[in-house]
Amino acid sequence: MDAVVVYESLWGNTAAIAQAIARGYGNGAVALTTDKATPSVVARARLLIVGAPVHAMNLPTDASRTSAMSKVYGRPGLHADVSHPSVRDWLEGLPPAERQCAAFETGIRGPLGHGAGRAIIARLTALGHTPIDEPHAFTVALVTGSAEPAALLIGGQEEKAVHWGEHLATVMSSPQSKDPQHRS
Ligand SMILES: Cc1cc2nc3c(=O)[nH]c(=O)nc-3n(C[C@H](O)[C@H](O)[C@H](O)COP(=O)(O)O)c2cc1C
Repeated sequence: MDAVVVYESLWGNTAAIAQAIARGYGNGAVALTTDKATPSVVARARLLIVGAPVHAMNLPTDASRTSAMSKVYGRPGLHADVSHPSVRDWLEGLPPAERQCAAFETGIRGPLGHGAGRAIIARLTALGHTPIDEPHAFTVALVTGSAEPAALLIGGQEEKAVHWGEHLATVMSSPQSKDPQHRS
């Protein structure tokens, strides 16, 4: 396994983006929930990609996840899944490593739709990881009439995620990336 994509997702939108990034990356990349992405699984990957929804312009907290449980968020019949640990808590338990990394977030369009990706990169960098790209943002709508998983994603976001996954695989296949000590 060359890359692992770890995600938090309450209504399935960030999950769909994570799976699309893994598809684009190829090379046996897998998208995993936080409870499946144990330190021993992550240790086998050269590249760690982490994604989460934006809540209050940052990573979800216990409080924002609790508040999400009480709202249907435009998704009749589909409730927030908080059965997996948050990415915030998962990052707290991640051991230091010199692995390469990337981050993404899902949120609404505009200035309020950012903050989670930067928080992920800050934590991974503090643990010794090296970002290979800027955090990427994928856009959701505020409302949807559908109860299908990932129905909030606006058109073209999964295709954009596949392309980003392909791009990350290209970066990782470059000679500099295979020998991180020679990165400029
Ligand atoms: C409590 C709460 C706070 C949110 N705050 C923001 C925000 O500050 N900015 C934003 O763009 N989206 C915000 N959102 C929308 C989420 O980003 C959106 O629900 C998420 O991208 C859906 O992805 P998921 O299905 O993977 O959870 C918020 C959602 C909730 C439930």
